[in-house]
Parts: sequence; structure tokens; C-alpha cells
Amino acid sequence: MLEAREISWIKDHKTILQNIDFHLFPKECVGLIGPNGSGKSSLLKILAFLETPTSGLLYFQGQSVPKRVPLPIRRRIAFVFQEPLLLSTRVFDNVAIGLKIRGLSKGIVRERVDYWLEQFGVSHLSKQLARSLSGGEAQRVSLARAFALEPDILFLDEPFSSLDAPTKEGLRLDLGQVFKSTQTTTVLVSHDFKDIAHLTNRALILLNGQVEAEGSPSQLLKGPQKEDVERFLEHFST
Ligand SMILES: Nc1ncnc2c1ncn2[C@@H]1O[C@H](COP(=O)(O)OP(=O)(O)O)[C@@H](O)[C@H]1O
Ligand SMILES: [Mg+2]
Repeated sequence: MLEAREISWIKDHKTILQNIDFHLFPKECVGLIGPNGSGKSSLLKILAFLETPTSGLLYFQGQSVPKRVPLPIRRRIAFVFQEPLLLSTRVFDNVAIGLKIRGLSKGIVRERVDYWLEQFGVSHLSKQLARSLSGGEAQRVSLARAFALEPDILFLDEPFSSLDAPTKEGLRLDLGQVFKSTQTTTVLVSHDFKDIAHLTNRALILLNGQVEAEGSPSQLLKGPQKEDVERFLEHFST
């Protein structure tokens, strides 16, 4: 589905990512975990064609991806940011806009928007202005908007990290259900191993812009790992 080979990203003379290999198979959810500043968001943006790496190659569905990524390819992916980025329109229109841009008919747009608002438990907010939503509601709408696009690959950058604990738990469970039923191919970034353990089949640990470990969540916790990886994982071992 997606492959990255020897990706490096240097910005303002600073090496942000170094020599990263990554692959993503259809229907899997892969996690990227690491401490703040380890390069998770940078890698996610490169994988989602939002930034161009300094060196390395990307392949999407077996084809090499050119530096200027063609629109039809970019339209096959969806990205959800840490802070829900909603337009100051009604919830319905926020979810509908990407579908309208893609030229879908009015009837299909309505059907899909209603379906996805329902899946994330926010149907009742359809007519409400997006800027009047709580953090949890807004993130549910952002997720509904991304799933409504029925992307080939979904990229989620810490989708729960601006939420309080109970809100986060609820959304994590609901997202887990949606993954189960849709089997959407996903890359999920989090700094919380709980998210990774609940939602992904496989995860990569990033430290200082490099992949230091890779495996299923339980394999990663079981170890043995390099010393710096062990030190990072210690926070989650209770
Ligand atoms: N566009 C950019 N220009 C310069 N430095 C950047 C840019 N994006 C990220 N960085 C730097 O790269 C490092 C990794 O950042 P980031 O990928 O956001 O980490 P994480 O998501 O793991 O917290 C940080 O030191 C950050 O300051
Ligand atoms: Mg980040």
C-alpha cells in the first residue's frame, strides 16, 4: 500500500529524520510512538505527502511517488490533526465539503455524512456550528470527516491528546469499533502506549528521528530492547 525507503529530513541544518524505512499493508493499523520531538509528526506528514523528504523514496500502491504528488493520489488519503481543524460552518458542512470537492452527488454526500456522524455518535450535532463544539465532539467530527472520504490510507496524528481522560477513553473505544468494521488502512501517531496497544497491530518506536524498535505492541513491551527503548517503555510498563 505504502512504502518509504531511507527517508531523511533535514530542516535548517537540523536532522529531524534519519534513514527511515517504513511499510504499510492494506487493512493494517500501524502505530508510531515516541517522546515529544522524536519526529513522529514529521514522519507522518512525509508519509501523507504533506512534506517532502530531503532524501529517500516513497511508493504508493507499488508506484514511485514523484516530488510533486499528483492530486488524484493526494485525494486518496485523509489526515486528522491533533487539534481538530474545523471550518466555522455547521458540522454537516464540515464533513460534507471534501465529498463535494470530489464531485459526489448531493444525495450520496448526505447519506455518507449522516452515516459517519452516526458512527462517531455526533448525529445530533449535525446542524450545530462547529466552533461551538467541545474538544471531544470536535475531534469526533474531524474523524467522521476523514472516514467519510473513504481514504485508501488514513493518517491520525495524536487524535486524542488534547482530550481529558474519560473523553479520550470513550473515543478510543469507538474508534476501535470503527477500525474493526471498516478495516481502514491507518497510520496512528501517539505518545501513549495505551492507544497503540488498543488500536494497532504493529508499531514503530521513534527516538531522535530514528526507528529504534518495531513489533506488535506486546512484543515491544516484552523486550528485550535497546537501552534507550527500554527507558522510554518503562513509563508504560505498569
Ligand atoms: N517544519 C519544521 N522546520 C524545522 N524544524 C521542524 C519542523 N517540523 C518539525 N521540526 C523539528 O523536528 C523535531 C521533531 O518534531 P515533530 O516531528 O513534531 O516531533 P513529535 O511529533 O514526535 O513531537 C522537533 O525538534 C521540531 O522542532
Ligand atoms: Mg507531534
